Amino acid sequence: MALQGVIDALKKTTLEEIGINFSLADILRDIKIEGENVQLVLFSPSDKYHQFLKEKAENTLKAIGANEVKVQFTDQPPAQRQQAPPPPPQPENPFENRRRIPKVKKAIAVSSGKGGVGKSTVAVNLAAALKKMGYNVGYLDADMYGPSGPTMLGAKDKQVMAKRVGDREVLIAPEAHGIKVMSIGFLLPSEDTPVIWRGPVLFKALNQFLFDVDWGDEELDFLIIDLPPGTGDVQITLGQVAELDGAVIVTTPQDVALIDVKKGIQMFNEVMIPVLGIVENMSYFVCPDSGKKYEIFGKSKTEEVAKKYGTEVLGKIPIEPKVAEFSDLGVPIVLAKEDSESAKAFMQIAENLIRKLSQQ
Ligand SMILES: Nc1ncnc2c1ncn2[C@@H]1O[C@H](COP(=O)(O)OP(=O)(O)O)[C@@H](O)[C@H]1O
Ligand SMILES: [Mg+2]
Repeated sequence: MALQGVIDALKKTTLEEIGINFSLADILRDIKIEGENVQLVLFSPSDKYHQFLKEKAENTLKAIGANEVKVQFTDQPPAQRQQAPPPPPQPENPFENRRRIPKVKKAIAVSSGKGGVGKSTVAVNLAAALKKMGYNVGYLDADMYGPSGPTMLGAKDKQVMAKRVGDREVLIAPEAHGIKVMSIGFLLPSEDTPVIWRGPVLFKALNQFLFDVDWGDEELDFLIIDLPPGTGDVQITLGQVAELDGAVIVTTPQDVALIDVKKGIQMFNEVMIPVLGIVENMSYFVCPDSGKKYEIFGKSKTEEVAKKYGTEVLGKIPIEPKVAEFSDLGVPIVLAKEDSESAKAFMQIAENLIRKLSQQ
């Protein structure tokens, strides 16, 4: 009898009747074939099943032409054949070289799927809200493609000094409204300068912004990082080089914007940055005359999306013309008009964020 034929037959003989998910071949420990006679050694620690297994093996092999079938049992696990081969080298873990941002207790990225949804407005007001609560706060404008942070914080004309520390050049963050600010906008000759960020240049600039900024003598309680929109190179690089404490995703209530929220959540999951929650901006309009609320983009599905992807809505901010006006003037609404509906919403979001971080 051919060995392969015997093995194949044993493989086909399952042992479901005794509640085992194996076949006879799985418990085969030794086999000898002489002509039409077969000797088997089967692994079975309990003699309870020996009779069953013996009959099963005999029937199986006699059905394919065996004359005599001898079955023995062993309770020894299979002998170690050889030293196990060394495990294959692990693919290089892109996250293993992540570093904490120096002198920053909590680093939070603010992100959005699209531009123009109010990401910078949220980032700046969140920074201002935390400052107002008494924390030491920094704001890093890492939106290499549209750095609007300095304008929104009235810091456009601030000078950035640099100092040499060993072989590194460290940028000293200027301050606006008590918030330490750093932005690529400071380093560009003019606001209209088009900047083309290619891989290595982007990587170097981002690294300098993350690791070679002097945020002052006192450690920052929070660093709010304003990311460019989308799920591109900056996000991926950031995830690979820096250990962040979380990300906040900004959206507007329209369905098209929410599709990007899903992408954003998935991307942060991939780069192992915890998503702390979603901020819905431009959620509704409060008519200044009647005080009536209008959901001008229709009923929001943000909660639904948040729930589906295991996160939460940290807050909703109305459309208020004053938000944009004060932004252009360089004062976040949280500081300019603290009794406004949007300022209150931002304060609430900051509180929710702290609560969320304390649960991590
Ligand atoms: N809640 C709001 N109410 C009114 N205007 C807003 C609001 N949020 C943002 N804006 C305005 O919308 C524009 C885009 O916001 P911005 O924060 O620059 O978006 P992003 O950073 O996502 O590109 C800005 O002019 C800003 O002042
Ligand atoms: Mg922006």
